[in-house]
Amino acid sequence: MSRAKVQAHYDEVAEVYDQRYDFRQGRLYHQHLSSLVLDRLRDRGFLLDLGCGTGLFIEHYSKLGGVAVGLDISPGMVGMGRLRCPDSEFLVGTADVLPFEDESFDNIASLLAFTYLNDPEAMLRESYRILKPGGQIAVCALSWNTLTCMVPLLYRLGERLGLNKIGVGDFGEHYYTGKEMEEMFSQAGFVDVESARCSFAHYTLSPRLFGLAQRFESFIEAHIPYLAFNVCVSGKKE
Ligand SMILES: C[S@@+](CC[C@H](N)C(=O)[O-])C[C@H]1O[C@@H](n2cnc3c(N)ncnc32)[C@H](O)[C@@H]1O
Repeated sequence: MSRAKVQAHYDEVAEVYDQRYDFRQGRLYHQHLSSLVLDRLRDRGFLLDLGCGTGLFIEHYSKLGGVAVGLDISPGMVGMGRLRCPDSEFLVGTADVLPFEDESFDNIASLLAFTYLNDPEAMLRESYRILKPGGQIAVCALSWNTLTCMVPLLYRLGERLGLNKIGVGDFGEHYYTGKEMEEMFSQAGFVDVESARCSFAHYTLSPRLFGLAQRFESFIEAHIPYLAFNVCVSGKKE
C-alpha cells in the first residue's frame, strides 16, 4: 500500500472531510463509533489518537475532560484538526513509528484508520511500548466479511471512473476479521483482548432507512453481528 498515495488523497479531501462525519447522519454514525471506543478506554487521562484525521474524536474526548494528542500521516487533515481543537497537540507522522517515550499515555484510540496501515503489527507494538502499565487501546475499523470484502474493489473501480470522493481509491486497504485483530493485539502483548462487530446504520442511507437501521442497530450488534460492518477491538497493557 502506498503511504504517499493515502497521504495525498487525505490532503486533497481534508477541507471537505467534515461534510461526511460532522453533519447530520454522518455525525450520528461517527458519534456511535466514538462512544464504543470511549467505553473501552481508561477513565479519560492522556490519550493518543492514531490516524486522528480532522480531530473529531479528539474534540469529543477533550469535551469530556481528557487531554489528547493526534497523529496523522496527512498534513492537510492535521491542519484541520488544529483548527478544530486549538488546545490539543497534533503531529504529522505514521502510526507504525511513534515519536514518544515509553509509557507516556493512558489511552490509545484509532478510528477508521487501521485498514490503511502497511504494518499494523508495528503500530500495535509501538502502542504497547508507549502505553503506561494498565493503559488501554481501542481500535475501530471497517471489518472483513462477505459483504464488506467488495468495498476495496468498488473503491478501485471508483478511482478508475474518476470518482473524487473521500476514501475512494486504490489504496490496497486491508480489512481484518475481529479474530485476526484479536490475535495481532495478543501478539503485541495486550491482555483482556476483546472484539465486537458494530455499526448497522450507514450514513449514506436515505434518512428514512437510516432512522430504521438505527432503531435496530443495538439488536443487530448483539444478536446478528455478521450484519454489522465495523469492528471495535480493545486490549490492556498489564
Ligand atoms: C477515514 S480517515 C479517519 C480519520 C479520523 N480517525 C476519523 O474518525 O474521522 C483515515 C485517516 O487515517 C490517516 N492515515 C492513513 N494511513 C495512516 C498512517 N500510516 N499513519 C497515520 N495516519 C494514517 C489518513 O490520513 C486519514 O486521516
